[in-house]
Amino acid sequence: MNFEIMKESLPLLLAGAGITVEITAASVGLGLAIGVVVSLIRLCGIRALRVLGDIYVTFLRGTPLLVQIFLVYFALPALIHHRVDAYVAAISACSINSGAYVAEIFRGGIESIDKGQMEAGRSLGMTWWQTMRHIILPQAFKRIIPPLGNEFIAMLKDSSLVSVIGFEELTRRGQLIIARTYASFEIWLSVAIIYLVMTFAVARLVGVLERRYKKDEQ
Ligand code: ARG
Repeated sequence: MNFEIMKESLPLLLAGAGITVEITAASVGLGLAIGVVVSLIRLCGIRALRVLGDIYVTFLRGTPLLVQIFLVYFALPALIHHRVDAYVAAISACSINSGAYVAEIFRGGIESIDKGQMEAGRSLGMTWWQTMRHIILPQAFKRIIPPLGNEFIAMLKDSSLVSVIGFEELTRRGQLIIARTYASFEIWLSVAIIYLVMTFAVARLVGVLERRYKKDEQ
């Protein structure tokens, strides 16, 4: 085992890890916005909107993220006759995908709140949306912190798929360094350890958030 190569390539890999965190945060952030909207339109009772939301979630959860990345990066440009930048393709594919998972997380959270809460809000004269915003969503949000944390961790690892379109995040950096040094073992081990440190840190952070919310509740 060549520790020297590991030490030498660490700065490059860490820079790649920074980019991994960046696309993950952007994707889950945008995914959160998409997910809230999609889960609400699936629950609002308007049939056409619900069907649209269902199609979105079914398609994005039923096809591999890898294929979705290819669709955005290769198929879409062929259709619109315009090149799509790898960065834009990576973030859009990941956030559109994450949005479907977040939509399901939100739906579960909202549906776990007792029906009586909506009825109570409505009987006080609040509209569906007012009750949703002021009564249901704040309660649902607490419950969905753990699954949202899981989604962030899953995306952190799944973002490695964008290495296939040449986007230089952590995994792609590893491949490039190996192409130059042939140090397969050392580099893949370093890459794995860096992912592990990141997912571990996020898991701890989510734990802290969870405990804080619990304390607020008491
Ligand atoms: N690995 C699964 C796939 O290839 C899930 C990818 C999406 N992951 C996520 N956290 N949104 O389809």
